[in-house]
Amino acid sequence: MKYLIETIGCQMNVCESDALSNMLSNYGMLQVHNIVDADVIILNTCSVRAQAEQKAFSYIGRVEELKKQKPNVKIIVIGCMAERLGIKIRKRFKSVDLVIGSKNINNFALKIVNLYNLAKIDDNILSKKSTEVGRCITIIRGCNNFCSYCVVPFVRGQEVSLDNKIIISECEEMVKSGAKEIMLLGQNVNSYKHGTVDFVSLVRDICKIDGLERLRFMTNHPKNLSDDLINLIATEKKVCHHVHLPMQSGSNKVLKEMNRNYTYEYYLALINKLRSKIADISITTDIIVGFPGETEKDFNNTLKALKDICFDGLYVFRYSSRPNTRASRMVDDVPLEEKKRRHSIILNESNKISSEIVLSMVGKTFEVLVENFKSNILEGRTGGGRKVFIKSTSKDYVGKVFNVHISESKINSLFGNIV
Ligand code: 5AD
Ligand code: SF4
Repeated sequence: MKYLIETIGCQMNVCESDALSNMLSNYGMLQVHNIVDADVIILNTCSVRAQAEQKAFSYIGRVEELKKQKPNVKIIVIGCMAERLGIKIRKRFKSVDLVIGSKNINNFALKIVNLYNLAKIDDNILSKKSTEVGRCITIIRGCNNFCSYCVVPFVRGQEVSLDNKIIISECEEMVKSGAKEIMLLGQNVNSYKHGTVDFVSLVRDICKIDGLERLRFMTNHPKNLSDDLINLIATEKKVCHHVHLPMQSGSNKVLKEMNRNYTYEYYLALINKLRSKIADISITTDIIVGFPGETEKDFNNTLKALKDICFDGLYVFRYSSRPNTRASRMVDDVPLEEKKRRHSIILNESNKISSEIVLSMVGKTFEVLVENFKSNILEGRTGGGRKVFIKSTSKDYVGKVFNVHISESKINSLFGNIV
């Protein structure tokens, strides 16, 4: 039985697709990457922006066409859009066999294998199949923040933290099967709390796992980035010096309308605190342009913030009105063309800053975890998350950490040699 998973959306969806894939392998199913080879086509969907939903609709449409030639193929739609628009998907696409929303994620593997009466062949939660160096685990689902533009609290529901004992044992399994780096995921990862165990103590416990080299986590809400957590990043050797800290806007008026619960001054003070305690910290962010009521002046505040802070990287999005959200009741008054213009200004500025940062890394030495080997090139990452390419003929370096001297930079990538 061969299956294909197509994933739209964020890192959490990518992670959940991986987890699903591991579960399906435990039932003897085989993953393929060419759609014509698949008996089961699974689409993992996203609802954060309207564009992501349109992309999913057109994918399902294409797969339906394929099913006309291969009627035995099963089509399964999972994830956020399946949660939000399950009924609409079933009505519009008659040949979709199964729709499983993100709230039912825990039993989706079971539902899929029930379609075929497959028997479990491996008892491990995580399959031994994956030997990837970097792995991820979702430790908290949902979100209680209700940022006014965001559909996540409606689709994924209230925050639910996974049992810390399960997280630790899954992480141990990952390390046993070759993982060197684990990324902890959650929409609001640092508000993790299970009983008396908070995020800081969970991270401390995971770092005790022998054989684990690195730990990352995302996404952080500025209001939950505590001093304890900053101290932990500064002192715990295994925690990577990288924080993804969505700013969304540099205008206090817009931040208030977004219900972000902080001002730009608070955000900037947090950045300064991080940088004063962890000199080599890499900070990345998310920005939304064209939020309802965002004036040229508001936008210029965001642009100025980018120039002042010099983020190591960022994602920029054009505001997209989402059903049920508070912002959907505001007037979406920034014209699309203007949103596009602001989007490209932010992108250009970010690329400029990023290439300056990359250039400043040339001639220096960084710790790099080698993750991959392809056509005589080792691919690795610095603790800050930058990709580094190293010429080599040996794949034995994969999974090890080396000091790498950076000899060259190109746009966003670095090239270097093992010291
Ligand atoms: N429109 C545009 N961008 C959005 N994001 C979330 N909701 C929306 C929306 N309605 C962005 C935010 C968030 C990232 C994951 O997606 O920047 O941090
Ligand atoms: Fe959405 Fe805000 Fe929650 Fe992030 S913190 S998932 S933007 S509501």
